[in-house]
Amino acid sequence: MSSDEQQQGFGTRAIKAATRTPKVEQHPAAVPIYQSATFHARDVDDYAELVGFERPGYTYARLENPTADVMASAFAELHGAEAGFAFGSGMGAIHAALLALVRAGDRIISTRAVYGSTRALMERVLRSLGVEVAFVDPIDLERVERELASAPAAVLYAETISNPTIVVADLARLADLAHTHGATLVVDNTFASPYICQPLELGADVVVESATKWLGGHSDVVAGAVAGTRAYIERVRDVAIDTGGIVSPFAAFLVLRGVQTLHVRMDRSSASALALARQLEEAPGVSGVWYPGLPSHPQAEIAQRELRLGGGMLALELPSRAAAAAFIDNLHIPPVTATLGSVVTYAVHPPTATHRQLSDQQLAEAGIPQGLVRISVGLEDADDLLADMAGALMAALEAGPSA
Ligand SMILES: Cc1ncc(COP(=O)(O)O)c(C=O)c1O
Repeated sequence: MSSDEQQQGFGTRAIKAATRTPKVEQHPAAVPIYQSATFHARDVDDYAELVGFERPGYTYARLENPTADVMASAFAELHGAEAGFAFGSGMGAIHAALLALVRAGDRIISTRAVYGSTRALMERVLRSLGVEVAFVDPIDLERVERELASAPAAVLYAETISNPTIVVADLARLADLAHTHGATLVVDNTFASPYICQPLELGADVVVESATKWLGGHSDVVAGAVAGTRAYIERVRDVAIDTGGIVSPFAAFLVLRGVQTLHVRMDRSSASALALARQLEEAPGVSGVWYPGLPSHPQAEIAQRELRLGGGMLALELPSRAAAAAFIDNLHIPPVTATLGSVVTYAVHPPTATHRQLSDQQLAEAGIPQGLVRISVGLEDADDLLADMAGALMAALEAGPSA
């Protein structure tokens, strides 16, 4: 400390003393949490260059933050993309991914069974801003093509494995159709994760994920990410800067921690999910089981081509809404809540939870039965999950015909 500094008041000295950030030569094992709202420039011109992205560096953390950047780059790298951008939630990522592509008068064609908030974003927010939205069945490729051909569309939007119906989209064919008609294919790969599916390799232009789910993997963070070409991600970044959906450094840190074990978790969740799907398929009272790893899955051939493994998500149909509720209420291992992609197993009733925004008619149109239960398989012992599901199923079916 200089002698001038020693003369300064306690407040000035306390602020200086507590903000002497170290320069560290050695690489830390984990990416540091750069918990700083701003970064200092040398002078006004230097700041202007940095804030204008004329050269790499940091200014204000709503624009870019080192921890967030590592998360974005990791996401892009795992998807084989030129660039990525990290967000404070999956919805923040989807919002910016779409706003970078559409404006009033443009048209989005989306597959019909998508996450409830994604549908609400398109129907409530984007439509109110003058964007046209049409919903189609991703499996009915003729219908998708007719819709694309009927009027120019800026975006074709699909989920790799749909929430909650576990429909596996033929991304390669959707990419061909989109490109033939001049549309950008945006794929939400949340249910699969980059370990299970690589949408860009299959021809998609943009991949988005809720990192809250398999990437983070521990139900302790909300985050999202987008990846695509460098030019496109610059547009996404500009939307993020102006709308503020950026990820916090701590959330990015948690996602990076999760990504390191993604493959191990997905292997285990996939194995347990397959065992559960097989058991549930044989169980009395279950009208249907959808799991991409089952030969009975309607898109088993597509799943075989596009997915490394079946993944951790499955859905089963029980005879009624009440039976679905009774099944969930009788489970002892999964807590009653609505998320997915965690070390913890979750069972969700989409019509009352994740897809509550849809009317009964919209649920029917989206192919979501009232008795559907969506299961995200975690890392508990598979035998315990099998026993818990068998017991809950029996209790739900014993509850009587109305249940
Ligand atoms: C398929 C899918 N996409 C996007 C989201 C939104 O993610 P977040 O909750 O991180 O905003 C979810 C959330 O459940 C989801 O299931």
